[in-house]
Amino acid sequence: MKFWLVVPAAGSSQRFGGDQPKQFLCIDGISVLTHTLNRFLSHPDLLGVQVVLPRGQSAPDDLPSDSRIQSCTGGDTRRDSVLAGCLALTHRGAADTDRVLVHDAARPLLPRADIDALLQALTQSAAYLVAPVADTLRDHQGQTLDRDGIHRVLTPQGAELAQMIKALEQGPQGLTDEAAYLLQAGVETQAVVGDGINQKITWPRDLALAQALMSEVT
Ligand code: C5P
Repeated sequence: MKFWLVVPAAGSSQRFGGDQPKQFLCIDGISVLTHTLNRFLSHPDLLGVQVVLPRGQSAPDDLPSDSRIQSCTGGDTRRDSVLAGCLALTHRGAADTDRVLVHDAARPLLPRADIDALLQALTQSAAYLVAPVADTLRDHQGQTLDRDGIHRVLTPQGAELAQMIKALEQGPQGLTDEAAYLLQAGVETQAVVGDGINQKITWPRDLALAQALMSEVT
């Protein structure tokens, strides 16, 4: 299935810290953003990519030179950034029923098999990648949760472009992933179990972990 891609890269990395947002730091001399984009650029069904950058910041020098990539400016929240990317795709001629995937710039460990599993699911409904929870989970009151009934939510997450835009425009601020907006809007949305290696770089040590795992991901 042909698809468009939005890569939100406009976050300020408050939890990671440092001078530069984590998505612009390098692993083996290549920016995290470019590692992430490279996971998709070799996909034969990719129509175009919208990279969403922080206000006032240009793309890293090593952004792949590929005519399918364009960039735009993000907003104060992830929702605003993803919405800006989706709206930019409509201006590039994407149709309402075209599928759009949203994938965090900070997740460079995405296996191709997971992209394909998600695209397969998108032939039926909106969909998003998840992974099983390994640890025991307990809430702050000491109540142990049934981990078999819980997933870790990953990206990519996808839907028809118009569905995604409507869900983001009409939903509240503050939800932290697109599937939450789609579900809240009443859009049928399925979870697809993917490979838990697709971790988000969040804290400084995640960069070293991503570097160590990079060659494990095909
Ligand atoms: O902060 P967090 O790690 O949850 O961000 C996930 C992704 O969303 C990152 O790639 C980040 O750059 C992006 N983001 C964004 N605009 C924001 C906040 C986050 O594009 N305002």
